[in-house]
Parts: sequence; C-alpha cells; structure tokens
Amino acid sequence: MVKKTSDERLSRVVALINGKGGVGKTSVTANISGQLARAGYSVLAVDLDLSGNLKLDLGYVGDPLDDDGKGVVDAVWQGQALPVITNVRENLDVVPGGRHLEMLAALAQTPMGDELPGGGVPTAFAERLAELAGDYDVVLLDCAPGNPILQDMALHAAHYVLIPTKTDSAGWEGLRMVGPRVKKARKENPDLSYLGVLLFAHQTTATRVRSGTKARLAEVSDTVPLFDSYIRHSETAAHDCRERGQLAHELARDASDSAKARLNVLRARRPGGEVVALPAQLSGTADSLAGDYEKVAAEMLTRIAAAEASTPISSASGR
Ligand SMILES: Nc1ncnc2c1ncn2[C@@H]1O[C@H](COP(=O)(O)OP(=O)(O)O)[C@@H](O)[C@H]1O
Ligand SMILES: [Mg+2]
Repeated sequence: MVKKTSDERLSRVVALINGKGGVGKTSVTANISGQLARAGYSVLAVDLDLSGNLKLDLGYVGDPLDDDGKGVVDAVWQGQALPVITNVRENLDVVPGGRHLEMLAALAQTPMGDELPGGGVPTAFAERLAELAGDYDVVLLDCAPGNPILQDMALHAAHYVLIPTKTDSAGWEGLRMVGPRVKKARKENPDLSYLGVLLFAHQTTATRVRSGTKARLAEVSDTVPLFDSYIRHSETAAHDCRERGQLAHELARDASDSAKARLNVLRARRPGGEVVALPAQLSGTADSLAGDYEKVAAEMLTRIAAAEASTPISSASGR
C-alpha cells in the first residue's frame, strides 16, 4: 500500500473540522476558497458533508454536475476519478457533496469496506484525492460535524487541520472531539498537523474573550495555535450571502452598488412623479466581513508557508 504520507500531491490539503455544526466550517471553506481564488491561487473545495451546504454558499445549487456526493461514493467504491465542477468561480473548482455520502458510512461498516484499495474507505478517498490535488495550489475539505467516516476520510487525506469554532460551550465541546480523531488518523497519516483554531462569529469588541480563549486553548493543547485573525459576528451579512449564493466580498460589491442605486432613485424622486421601486438594501457589514476572510486566508497561507519552511529536508524529499 502506498501511504498517502509519501504523496507530495496532498501536501496542501487543509481539513476544516469541528465535532459540532454551526461553527463556520462551511462559511469559512467557501470564503477562504473564494479569497484565495480571487488572489490568483488555483483552489479545489471538497464538500464532505451530508448537508451539502457548500452549494448554498458558493451558489452552485441546480448545477447539472451537482450529484449530491454520488461521485465521491463511486470514486471510493469503484475507483473512479472524483467528479469536479470546474470554474465555480475563476480559479475555483468544487467536488460536490451531499446526502449520498451517507453510503460511505454504511460501506465502511461492511467487510467490503476493508477490501477497498488501500484497505479502507478513508485511504481509498485519500488516493482518489491525490490524483486531483496536485493540480491545485490549495485544497480545502469542508467536513461533516457528526459522521466519523467522513471525518476520517478528510483526516487521512489532509496535511493540515483548521478548526473553526465559536467560543460558546458547544464550540469547545466540538473542538475537544477533534483531538482523538486526529490522533487516530496520525497512525496512517503521521504528517497531519494543526494549522490552528479560528474564532468564528466573534464579537469584535470581546478582546477579553479572545485572550481567555488563548489561555484556555493552551490548557487543552500546546500544539494548537489560535489564529490572530478571526471572523466577526455578522448575522445579516451571513444570511444575505447564503440566500444569494454569494461570498462576502461579492455581497459587499453588490451592497455598495445597491446603496448607490438607492440613493440615485431617492434623488430622482419628485412630488407627484413616477414612483420607482428602491433597489434592495443589502447588509452594510459585508465589506468588513469580507476583510476578515481576506485576513484569515492570508494568515492561513503564512502558516502553511512557515510549516513548509520548517519541514526537514530529508522528510520533504521523501514526500
Ligand atoms: N459571520 C457570521 N456571523 C454570524 N453568523 C454567521 C456568520 N457566517 C455564517 N453565519 C451563519 O452561521 C450558521 C452556521 O454556519 P456554517 O458555516 O454552515 O457552519 P458549519 O458548517 O460549521 O455547520 C449559518 O446559518 C450561517 O449563515
Ligand atoms: Mg457545514
């Protein structure tokens, strides 16, 4: 069996994982992918969640190539190439996920699962992903919160783990669930390392919470750093994004255009004149939110570059 760890092609794969839902895995996957693609990097985003929410955030709902994860199942099960929806944005491709991924949990529990090439569902997935990953600068895996097999697939294929979390108790509980899974995956994938914890939907004024989180994280583990950048709380912008299938920076652009158009309509109104409907008012915080994602994407790249620079030559040449 060729271990994934000898595979250079998987060296830029990042799993976004947390044992809980609603902590930003999908929003962060979509927006970091979009930010990196916009900056000229070639990016692949892989939806490894049954919810298939990535399609909402990236707006490829109804795309004829969106198969709700069936192609991922076939790739693992029959060795076919992973399906790719190309150019979801310029420089950004997606492997679609969704309800069919449920099949993989069932498959892993049968003796047939052990007969897959590589000896199991997670390894078979890592091998299929390796066939694609080398074509991209960065690959992001949007993980399922509560499905061990889908999480193991991601952790076998990834080089880095990024944990988005809220600072509430559910977020911490979900964060604590990651450690044991990473430990288990490292038996097959010893290169797997923590890129960091990222605060999501964070109150920008809560500096005390942020420093408390740092201290608390240090108690949990001395190997998991906290990202300096974070994603601010912005419910209206998040709502508008998901409803429109837009990333934060795209919503920000439209919000600015729409604000100008509204102003023009209001200026043109005359008493007794024709009433023209006002263009929609879009979230005014999208711009700040987009700025947060831009900073997080940059910090992610910096952390990857630092990790690559510190990789011993002997290990790097063996990959
Ligand atoms: N910056 C934000 N502030 C507040 N809520 C947000 C923000 N970004 C996204 N949300 C909302 O949080 C919820 C969970 O986000 P999601 O990325 O789907 O989490 P997960 O993938 O971990 O389940 C969604 O309803 C989303 O609209
Ligand atoms: Mg999600």
